[in-house]
Amino acid sequence: MKFLLVTDLDNTLVGDDEATQLFNQRLQPVRSQICLIYATGRSHASTCQLIAQKQLLAPDYLIAGVGSEIYQDGTIDLDWAQYLSQDWDKMAIASLAQQFSQLKPQSLKEQNPWKISYCLEPAAENISTLQALQQKLTASGLAAQIIFSSNRDLDILPQTSNKGNALTYLQKRLQIPSEATLVCGDSGNDISMFQQNVRGVIVANALSELLEWHREYGTENHYLAGSACAWGIIEGMAYFWGF
Ligand code: GLC
Ligand code: MG
Repeated sequence: MKFLLVTDLDNTLVGDDEATQLFNQRLQPVRSQICLIYATGRSHASTCQLIAQKQLLAPDYLIAGVGSEIYQDGTIDLDWAQYLSQDWDKMAIASLAQQFSQLKPQSLKEQNPWKISYCLEPAAENISTLQALQQKLTASGLAAQIIFSSNRDLDILPQTSNKGNALTYLQKRLQIPSEATLVCGDSGNDISMFQQNVRGVIVANALSELLEWHREYGTENHYLAGSACAWGIIEGMAYFWGF
């Protein structure tokens, strides 16, 4: 395999059905040259439902739960699980987060051993809540990272996790160089992918959190697509790879 294509699902590959189907058609003739990875915040079960519902191509790997789990053919990667388990005290972190009444736990289906997820009501003081939570975690000596997306979803993950670290783990295993690795996304939990040594496409419908990151840190390796959702991925593949 020569190329590595890593794409987010909601509002990136999925969001415009016509574009998703055109993406599938474009990929089919070159499918054997491309390692296809979906990187999503969704759980494994919810991703499988979406794949069936939207008739997505079967991926080679699935990065689920914002990088907290990696699957190949429905089997979880135990090496990754073991790596994330080091220096990760889920119970202590969850009980500390419980002290923040603004944090409403997401459904049990969205939680897993390496991901604690909450919802925050849109409010002006959200950023200070995030800072206070981070400070408390640090003061308690608990290693964790906080990822805030869509001005609503708050995920707490092991420091070694996230979509970007998961994709780099697979990229190294597959030995695919950075110029042949393309990531695509639209929101805050995709930022870690753009921070890796890769090429990246930000779809035109991206949220302000990702656009702000791009304004501050974007380089010539990051392409701001003129079109939304999977149209933007198609645009980015042509821009970086010529197909
Ligand atoms: C998805 C997940 C949710 C997570 C969000 C942001 O919506 O289902 O648990 O908080 O992505 O990463
Ligand atoms: Mg998305």
